[in-house]
Amino acid sequence: MCGIVGVIGKSEASPVIFEALKRLEYRGYDSAGIATVENGQIDRRRVEGKLNNLGDALTTSPLPGKIGIGHTRWATHGAPTEQNAHPHVSSHVAVVHNGIIENFRDLRNELEAGGHTFASETDTEVVAHLVTAYLQEGKSHFEAARLAVARLEGAFALGIIFQGEEDLIVGARHGPPLAIGEGDGEMYLGSDAFALAPMTNRVCYLEDGDCAEIRHDAVTIIDADGNQVERPFTIMMASAQLVDKGNHRHFMAKEIHEQPEVLGHTISAYADPLQETIYLGRVPFDLAAVPKITISACGTAFYAAMVAKYWFEQLARVSVEIDIASEFRYREAAMPEGGLAIFVSQSGETADTLAALRYCAQNGQHVASIVNVVESTIGRESEVVFPIHAGPEIGVASTKAFTCQLMVLAALAIATARARKTIDDETETRLVRALTSVPRLTTETLGVAGQIEALAHDLASTRDILYFGRGLQYPIALEGALKLKEISYIHAEGYAGGELKHGPIALIDEQVPVIVIAPYDRLFDKTMSNMQEVIARGGRVVFMSDDKGLDHVGNDAWAKIRVPEADPFISPFLYTIPVQLLAYYTAVAKGTDADQPRNLAKSVTVE
Ligand code: M6R
Repeated sequence: MCGIVGVIGKSEASPVIFEALKRLEYRGYDSAGIATVENGQIDRRRVEGKLNNLGDALTTSPLPGKIGIGHTRWATHGAPTEQNAHPHVSSHVAVVHNGIIENFRDLRNELEAGGHTFASETDTEVVAHLVTAYLQEGKSHFEAARLAVARLEGAFALGIIFQGEEDLIVGARHGPPLAIGEGDGEMYLGSDAFALAPMTNRVCYLEDGDCAEIRHDAVTIIDADGNQVERPFTIMMASAQLVDKGNHRHFMAKEIHEQPEVLGHTISAYADPLQETIYLGRVPFDLAAVPKITISACGTAFYAAMVAKYWFEQLARVSVEIDIASEFRYREAAMPEGGLAIFVSQSGETADTLAALRYCAQNGQHVASIVNVVESTIGRESEVVFPIHAGPEIGVASTKAFTCQLMVLAALAIATARARKTIDDETETRLVRALTSVPRLTTETLGVAGQIEALAHDLASTRDILYFGRGLQYPIALEGALKLKEISYIHAEGYAGGELKHGPIALIDEQVPVIVIAPYDRLFDKTMSNMQEVIARGGRVVFMSDDKGLDHVGNDAWAKIRVPEADPFISPFLYTIPVQLLAYYTAVAKGTDADQPRNLAKSVTVE
């Protein structure tokens, strides 16, 4: 959603805030701004568009002061203009906000009736005026902020600074995450700990309902019940260097190419290489006894869940229901007592997935999550967390998190099958061996990057592209289409091969490239038939397969992409690589911003 930062430092705050905002830009980039207090006065710079524009504004007109707050925005209420950019101010305070204040209209009406004049269309501005109203009643800064926060409904994280106060930032959390970092005589506030990484590795996380009084040398936290509480500072493992593009032009390229390495980390965390068995660590419920598995997630994480459904059902013979979290939470799903509910989320902060988790927890399900950010809300509210070990993913389009999610889901499916005695030791050994070969085979698959880059130049001018596959490749077709549309803005759809003739085949003509994902497996012949139906109608086929499959296709395809031959169990990992590369190079050929596509944000913490 949006990214917020606060700094009470020993030196100028705005350059530090600006650097921290760069690491949060993946959360939103419609507008940006910083406010500081200097000689008791609040001053601010705000710009429309990306952070570079704010950098230019600060160069032209520097912002002095050793305390400040900053924001990078993904617009919800009000257009992405300078006027609607944060920080929002009233006569006494400046505020940055991530989330949505649902009762802002009522509050705004009340405040306007009391003589407050608003300058933006945002929900955030009510916070500035509400705090000011309580200050005008004679409340202290912290008290005024707490009274204001108590009147807000919705999901929000806030950073507030005050006119005439150069040693106080108030942070408040109700939903979206907020971390406090402790430096040497300095304190920091951030939407996530990575933003604070270069300044400090000592971080604590606010809990829902917390309000923090942050001074340069101390933090006081009051919880939702009004009690003073301690939130422990822990040493954060992430290093700032991880959040760097290296030699790549985009984070997305770096993250695609990093997959062999991070998948190696993931498999090492879940497999015993000597015994060739899966090791999950302590699981606080019996995998053999769960009557049903429900998996909820959004976007790319949902497609990982879709692959997992095939794995769990085929290997563990357990019924698996998967759903898009935003639908699941409202459909009042019936779940047997003691079922297992799994939530897949890179960020661990996706509002819909979190709401689905809470619904399942209230309905007698065991709650497990598969997350990249272990300290996230989804991680913290789960009975058991299975980290994906992907490292920070900055590109808005999810790539390495997807394949690492697949790795954890595969390990979980094998462990469940073993617990339910639906596979024997020999099968487990074969599957673990296959998973262990994924890093090597993904490295080999990345060898097609040059060929795909050339192909992408031809695809960049097309209007529509279709993807199809069968079985385990059906979710990969959906993922390929999502990746392409989100970063290149080309209309793309993924289909199950067998479904084409029930409607989508009407879309095929000479203008429509069709990506066929077809490993030489038990469904290969069926997929070939579907491909012939497409070719017969003039469709241009980009055929992705292994050597055996490519031999069968002859000259029928317009382009052929070779993927290494492998155990069918791991085919989703390998076929993901060319569809990611295709999306990436098409975006590059079109000149769109692969890392920060329009209208999107990395972490969606509102409904
Ligand atoms: O952080 P999460 O995994 O919960 O995010 C879920 C989706 O918002 C995310 O996968 C989104 O679809 C990506 N932009 C896809 O590339």
